[in-house]
Amino acid sequence: MKPIQVGLLGIGTVGSGTFNVLKRNQEEIRRRAGRGIEITMVADLNVERAREIVGDGVAVVADGRQVIANPEIDIVIELIGGYGIARALVLEAIAAGKHVVTANKALLAVHGTEIFAAAREKGVMVAFEAAVAGGIPIIKALREGLTANEIQWVAGIINGTTNFILSEMRDKGLDFEVVLKEAQRLGYAEADPTFDIEGVDAAHKATLMSAIAFGVPVQFDKAHVEGITKLSAVDIRYAEQLGYRIKLLGIAKRRDNGIELRVHPTLVPSKRLIANVEGAMNAVMVHGDAVGTTLYYGKGAGSEPTASAVIADLVDITRLHTADPDHRVPHLAFQPDELRTTPI
Ligand code: HSE
Repeated sequence: MKPIQVGLLGIGTVGSGTFNVLKRNQEEIRRRAGRGIEITMVADLNVERAREIVGDGVAVVADGRQVIANPEIDIVIELIGGYGIARALVLEAIAAGKHVVTANKALLAVHGTEIFAAAREKGVMVAFEAAVAGGIPIIKALREGLTANEIQWVAGIINGTTNFILSEMRDKGLDFEVVLKEAQRLGYAEADPTFDIEGVDAAHKATLMSAIAFGVPVQFDKAHVEGITKLSAVDIRYAEQLGYRIKLLGIAKRRDNGIELRVHPTLVPSKRLIANVEGAMNAVMVHGDAVGTTLYYGKGAGSEPTASAVIADLVDITRLHTADPDHRVPHLAFQPDELRTTPI
C-alpha cells in the first residue's frame, strides 16, 4: 500500500525531530502502523532552512495553506504554536477533511471546544499526545490504559522549565533570573517564558489532562494559575529544612460539586518519588479507583522526545485510516462514534 502522506506546518525543534525520527525508524514504524508514513510536504516561513533539514524529495513552501490544499495529504501536523495562524490552519485542515496532529497545548486549552467540535462534524481526528508532558504517553495512558477507572485525580510536574529552575535554585543556590536564562539557552522555555514561569503552560496541559480524565470540556479559563516568580532561594531552603521540596504542580481533582483545576507551587514531602523529579524532567501521577496511584516519568520537552509523541499519533491515525483491520485500534482522539466499536 502507498505510504500515508503527511504535511508538516512548522519545522523548528520538534518538526525536525519528527522528520528525523520518522526517517530513521521508518521500517519499524511502517510495520507497526501497517503502512508507511511519509512527510511529503513542509510549510515554513524559513524555506531555505526547511530545505536544508528535509533535503530533496520533499516539497517545501512558505504558506501552510498550500499543504492543506494538497489532496494527496491525509494528515497535517501543526507545530507552529500560538493561537493566531495555528488556529486558522488547524480549522482549515479539518474543514478540508485532514486529520490533525498537534503539540499546541495553548491552542487546544483555549480553543479546544471549537476545534474538537469541527473535527467531530467532519469525522476527522485531532490528536495531541505531544501537547502534554512531551515524550510521556500520558494522553494514551489516561484515554486507553486507565479507561476502566473512575479517575479521581491527576497531579504532575508538567513544565520542565520551572522544574529546572526550582532544581537549580535548590542545588546550586542560584538566582531565579540566572537559571531562567540557562533554561532558555537549553531550549526548554516557551518563546515567551512568561507562560512557563507564571504557570500558564502547566495550566494549559492540566486543562487538557482534565478533559481526558474526567470527560469535561476544555476550560482553561476556570483554572487557578499561580507560577514560581514569587519564590526565592530562602523559601526553597526553609522548605528543605522542614522536609519538603517545592514543586510546581498541575492538579485536576474530582470533587462532589465538579472538577478542581489548579497550578501552583506545592510543598511535597522530600521522600515522595515525585519530589525527586529533577531538572527539566516531567512526571505525572494519576489515581484511578481500580488501579490506585500510577506514576509516569520522562522528558517533557525537546526535539526527539516530543517527536516520539507526534509520531505515536501519526501511527494511531494511520492504523485507523488504513484498510487493513489488523492494524486498527479501538479508540482514539475524538473519533466519530461508529469507529469507537471497530474491532481490533
Ligand atoms: N516550555 C515547556 C516546558 C516545553 O518547559 O515544559 C514543553 O511543553
